[in-house]
Amino acid sequence: MMAQIDGIAEHVIERCRLLARASEEPGFTTRTFLSEPMHAIHRHVRGWMEKTGMSVAVDHVGNLRGVYAGTQPASRRLLIGSHLDTVPHAGAFDGVLGVLIGVSLIELLEDRRLPFAIEVAGFSEEEGVRFGAPFIGSRALVGDIDEDLLERLDASGMSVSETIEAFGLDPARIAEACAGDDTFGYLEFHIEQGPVLDSLGLPLGIVEAICGQSRVDVNFEGNASHAGTTPMHMRRDALAAAAEWMSAVECEAREVSNAVATVGRLEVSPGASNVVPGSIRATLDVRHADDIVRRDLVAQLLRSAGQIAACRCLRVSHEQRFDQAAVAMDSDLTSLLERAVLSAGYPVRRMPSGAGHDAMIMARRMPAAMLFLRSPGGISHHPDECVLVEDVAAALSAGMRFLEELEPRYA
Ligand code: HGY
Ligand code: MN
Ligand code: MN
Repeated sequence: MMAQIDGIAEHVIERCRLLARASEEPGFTTRTFLSEPMHAIHRHVRGWMEKTGMSVAVDHVGNLRGVYAGTQPASRRLLIGSHLDTVPHAGAFDGVLGVLIGVSLIELLEDRRLPFAIEVAGFSEEEGVRFGAPFIGSRALVGDIDEDLLERLDASGMSVSETIEAFGLDPARIAEACAGDDTFGYLEFHIEQGPVLDSLGLPLGIVEAICGQSRVDVNFEGNASHAGTTPMHMRRDALAAAAEWMSAVECEAREVSNAVATVGRLEVSPGASNVVPGSIRATLDVRHADDIVRRDLVAQLLRSAGQIAACRCLRVSHEQRFDQAAVAMDSDLTSLLERAVLSAGYPVRRMPSGAGHDAMIMARRMPAAMLFLRSPGGISHHPDECVLVEDVAAALSAGMRFLEELEPRYA
């Protein structure tokens, strides 16, 4: 079996690299919610799924859903999933790897049927790039898509709802995407996206909990004015205020152990080199394993924004775009995963996840567990992101043992 698994592991990596070419930006991997390249992704992954005997459909929020039937017609179902969208200029493995490991576990079953069905889900949107709202795909499986989300607009003024229709889907049928009560658990394979496993020389990590995250838009409003004629003491420069605030964000977040805070995007208006910036929207992303610590830090950083704005005679406002509590993985399913990793012959290492994942959404509805694969160099959300073939083989071996550990429960 190991030689077969090594071969399939190489296949998984080749497929990830093939899919990475489906992009909105030639030369980079950029694939946001239901953008044109997602059609090519669906074509490829659907083909690989159907070859294993899975029945495949696209739900009305654009998730690709493949089901491998079990021995009994109304059998229970295990869901394996991750996301197919990416950040701009992404690597080839964040999200996609988890979907393709799921498909390859079905390949490794070689038509053998288990006493439960297996569904592999490729979620349409996890990163939150296009609409500032992450997890649109998995939120549909837990019934958490509301009008407010459907009416959100992207930079071009297109709404989530219109984007769904433009992809050939029907927003009125999103409710059909909900996971059924027959689904007893969720398993997600994902690259760690951090340096821990690589620094310890470990191939796999067992996720115990996923840090909570806050995403807030902070708007500084000053006065646009002529760069050549406006004396320095008469300016109300929104970008200078944001710059002062960003260094405050960095300093204050450093003071809170294990917290991370990022201003990842600035939208400057009017954005001309000879105009003092009149307004700016800055995105704030704050993460921590403890929700109280995280929310206190967000409140503190917003107070700092207010103080800086007041000193500069600017106005400041903010809009909470997303607040996701930290989520513990299911202890029973995680222990079963740990046994599977050990019986596959690999060391176990439990750890938190600093990155958010669809598992934190699915955990609202069913027991969820996650298995990390080492990220060489801790590189992620970058074109140099990679994964080792031997670690993919390790994950496939552990995944097969996981299915074997589950079998007696549903036989
Ligand atoms: O931002 C995150 O944590 C994940 O990559 N969506
Ligand atoms: Mn990501
Ligand atoms: Mn991811």
